[in-house]
Amino acid sequence: MAAYTPKNILITGAAGFIASHVANRLVRNYPDYKIVVLDKLDYCSDLKNLLPSKSSPNFKFVKGDIGSADLVNYLLITESIDTIMHFAAQTHVDNSFGNSFEFTKNNIYGTHVLLEACKVTGQIRRFIHVSTDEVYGETDEDAVVGNHEASQLLPTNPYSATKAGAEMLVMAYGRSYGLPVITTRGNNVYGPNQFPEKLIPKFILLAIQGKPLPIHGDGSNVRSYLYCEDVAEAFEVILHKGEVGHVYNIGTKKERRVIDVAKDICRLFSIDAETVIKFVENRPFNDQRYFLDDQKLKILGWSERTAWEDGLRKTIEWYTQNPHWWGDVSGALLPHPRMLVMPGGIEGHGSEDENSAYYEPNKKNLTK
Ligand SMILES: NC(=O)c1ccc[n+]([C@@H]2O[C@H](COP(=O)([O-])OP(=O)(O)OC[C@H]3O[C@@H](n4cnc5c(N)ncnc54)[C@H](O)[C@@H]3O)[C@@H](O)[C@H]2O)c1
Repeated sequence: MAAYTPKNILITGAAGFIASHVANRLVRNYPDYKIVVLDKLDYCSDLKNLLPSKSSPNFKFVKGDIGSADLVNYLLITESIDTIMHFAAQTHVDNSFGNSFEFTKNNIYGTHVLLEACKVTGQIRRFIHVSTDEVYGETDEDAVVGNHEASQLLPTNPYSATKAGAEMLVMAYGRSYGLPVITTRGNNVYGPNQFPEKLIPKFILLAIQGKPLPIHGDGSNVRSYLYCEDVAEAFEVILHKGEVGHVYNIGTKKERRVIDVAKDICRLFSIDAETVIKFVENRPFNDQRYFLDDQKLKILGWSERTAWEDGLRKTIEWYTQNPHWWGDVSGALLPHPRMLVMPGGIEGHGSEDENSAYYEPNKKNLTK
């Protein structure tokens, strides 16, 4: 298979977690590629995530919304974009129970605008669409075979439903207009730059502050975690070797219960897990497990490199050195946070009050 060589790449959402690692990696490894980042700088993002690329001549940051057709068309034409890596999304499952219209707007409509701009400008040679393992819905506890790329999409929460919806549009633009699309579906990612509404950075920051680690329910839910640099490498491989029209799972067979993640963090901080772990009210709806078949991407030559212990150590080290990266994140550290995603920024920083207007008690675990 001939390797693909991009020239000018538009990466959406790269002031956020995963795409910042991808952008920094591509800027560093490929000085011949121009990397243009488009991000609206939502509550979970930080320009500091892109500091390693800031002064590189092949890097450009544009603040803006993927939902703006004029801006997207302008960028594609003026920057001669031939490749799009589309990460931008509302990503926090918990928020999607409270304000799911924002998820439809950013994740489905935003993707649609990008696709339409690709159709109109007619110059895109790769559209890499970043989706999630959650679109498959939950895997049975006793399943021994993971979801493969042709498995049915059965999303169970508003977040994953919008991600599945976006995938349908991507597929349709591939079929109807011959847009060269590739879709990825990834397991959970962890590492530096991740906003602490997500489980691992949240537990690390709480441990640093000497506060209890709240576990929803009994912590028996299982998740698979990949270290951010390994995932950035997976995108590097898919960019160059991925086949148009294909879907690639980015997964690991190694699974961990949430309670064990908390215990591992306690151990690395030398704190007594029995004392600091607090079980808080679960939510009745809670995907037990996401299990992926990870063979297809392995055939392209990718496999994870970072052992869990090493990745966790590096992540703890980074959060310990950068505890104030996003400023005041106390709202994100609550047991049941609600970072309200409203146009133009954060409306509120979460609430302990489960009856508050933005708490929707129908429900899922905070394990993503
Ligand atoms: N984090 C994970 O574990 C994980 C796992 C599998 C898949 N994914 C997918 O990977 C992608 C990136 O996830 P992440 O965790 O890095 O996300 P994140 O929440 O850290 O970052 C998302 C970024 O997108 C930007 N953004 C959101 N809406 C936008 C819009 N309308 N216009 C421009 N920018 C916008 C935000 O400002 C932010 O910088 C998402 O598509 C997500 O669904 C994430």
